Amino acid sequence: MERFYIEGGRRLAGELEVQGAKNSVLPILAASVLHPGQSVLHHCPRLRDVEASIRILRHLGCKAGWEGDDLVVDAATIDRMDIPDGLMREMRSSMTFLGAVLARCGQALVSMPGGCELGPRPIDLHLAALRRLGADIREEGGSLSCKADHMTGCEIALHTPSVGATENAMLAGCGAEGVTVICNAAREPEIQDLQDFLAGMGHHVTGAGSSTIVVERGGHTHDSEHTIMPDRIVAVTYLAAAAAAGGEVVLRGIDYRHLSTVLSPLREAGCQVRSQRDTIHLAAKERLRGIAPIRTAPYPGFPTDAQAILMAALLQGKGTSVFVENVFENRYRHVDELVRMGADIQVEGRVAVVCGVERLSGAPVRCTDLRGGAALAVAGMAAQGVTCLSDVHHIQRGYEDLPRDLRALGAAIRCEDDG
Ligand code: EPZ
Repeated sequence: MERFYIEGGRRLAGELEVQGAKNSVLPILAASVLHPGQSVLHHCPRLRDVEASIRILRHLGCKAGWEGDDLVVDAATIDRMDIPDGLMREMRSSMTFLGAVLARCGQALVSMPGGCELGPRPIDLHLAALRRLGADIREEGGSLSCKADHMTGCEIALHTPSVGATENAMLAGCGAEGVTVICNAAREPEIQDLQDFLAGMGHHVTGAGSSTIVVERGGHTHDSEHTIMPDRIVAVTYLAAAAAAGGEVVLRGIDYRHLSTVLSPLREAGCQVRSQRDTIHLAAKERLRGIAPIRTAPYPGFPTDAQAILMAALLQGKGTSVFVENVFENRYRHVDELVRMGADIQVEGRVAVVCGVERLSGAPVRCTDLRGGAALAVAGMAAQGVTCLSDVHHIQRGYEDLPRDLRALGAAIRCEDDG
């Protein structure tokens, strides 16, 4: 089993190009099913979840493979409409294949995606949106049997701006006759990237980034190329590592506007942050200090995916910081592992109170989920001694090569496979 070993307490210094975004490439890979031809994705990150998506595409009958850093999908032939349980359970975002397969084939059989480490992961908004468009969906035996001989564009109102449900409605809308208007849509930058990909394929999609997205099926789709946007949460991770350990880093190829709600508390904690077009420079010269309460919210609010990561950066800060997790029910599983390293964190329901300590100590810790695992690496950067991370497969779902990137910033981290 692979483990990461971090020798903490070293200041960071270096520059890094930010990888492509997991939460952009995954719905775009599902969307590639919509066109019976080739889609070429540039700047595609090599992630466990991307490999899982490739397995789903190949299961459906598509060709999908790497050509250097480009991922090339050819969906000319789709000869299956089912996604088996094993493939569906590999990742949460497999749900977006439902809308795409329905739009392309008129039917789909998928299993209910597993709940996951963040608490229950309901799909009521996904199903309601597809039913509004005319899909007949039967839930039986843990599977969803879906038929949609004909989908008709309509208005879809989401009671929560769900990212996944917004994406599923966009993809299904590309298979509907007429115009689909998605109200209270998620506004994440990854939704805008998906819109650009769909438009590049020949569909008419506008409004992404706002709460109202308008989708109209294109008369003819065509082969296309698309460059995956940079991963804003990966960028936050490396900035937080420098904030925690102290030092000075430069991230390139990142739109600072996508993470401004995280840059602000980093400045409040005492970091010097300068940003220009596609570069962010962070310097942390002294011990951080506590910040005003952080409340996670849908974009453009503070991203829930950055909650654990920013928390890890503040563990040795002077003073107290409070986090309120409003998006997911169970997103503090990393806390117990951080406490093993000497952190002082109290959790009451959705609220976590972090009291800064003088010193964190390296310890053997276990990754509980993707961003919780990243938070342990951030804490390990600051801790005295060696931190050993196990269950790093969680991290590898979303980070192309965390040890490689942190070493580029001067960290002492290695990956060992000790069987
Ligand atoms: C996406 O998950 C991201 N994953 C998550 O990133 C991210 O944390 C989340 O959006 C919020 O930004 C991908 O894009 C692959 P949601 P998603 O539907 O789509 C409730 C990471 O670490 N809800 O926006 O599953 C739900 O319970 C991952 O990269 C319903 O009630 O999130 C949650 O409370 C973790 N009914 C809230 O909406 C539904 O049908 C937001 O969930 C769907 C969701």
